[in-house]
Amino acid sequence: MTKISVIAAVAALALAGSALAQTVPPGEKPVDPYKQSNANAGATPITDPSVWVAFHGKPGVDRIVETFVERNYADPRVKDFFAAADKARLTRTLKEQFCYILGGGCDYTGKDMREAHKDQGETNKDFNAMVENLQFAMDRERVPFAAQNKLLAKLAPQQKDIVQR
Ligand code: HEM
Repeated sequence: MTKISVIAAVAALALAGSALAQTVPPGEKPVDPYKQSNANAGATPITDPSVWVAFHGKPGVDRIVETFVERNYADPRVKDFFAAADKARLTRTLKEQFCYILGGGCDYTGKDMREAHKDQGETNKDFNAMVENLQFAMDRERVPFAAQNKLLAKLAPQQKDIVQR
């Protein structure tokens, strides 16, 4: 390989890498680059496998997130927050986040909670309304209360990162 072709190969690889890093899943809007990590999920996974079973695995978690998102978008108490949000991205990242926290073995690729809710001005009241909507979604999936509380206990400490004022 000549020196020039080595440089060309390195440049091609770098280009491919940056294109990969900026891949936007179908139906989603691009976002500014950020560091992806499971640590961004804001909680460690639940290790008791019975909780994952109680949520009915991946199909159950996906249904819960879909109900939860629809409920928030329709709820007069919080819907205005979502007017400019990317619903496809929010749904995908929430599915990943809940699956990761519930011990379902997913990776979370979204932003951390402080960054995701920066400058949005959520209050404790908004947070509580969202928790009610999540409880509605888990009830509809017939998740027993003990298992519901395991997820809520993982999300509760995130309130301090989401409510920033
Ligand atoms: C424990 C509670 C909450 C969790 C687990 C949570 C989780 C998330 C996640 C995973 C994202 C997507 C991050 C990304 O795009 O990378 C997000 C974004 C968002 N969240 Fe939350 N959230 C919570 C509470 C709230 C509350 C209380 C509100 C307002 C009532 C809210 C409004 C939003 C909005 C509007 C976005 C979209 C922001 C955008 O498109 O830039 N969230 N949230």
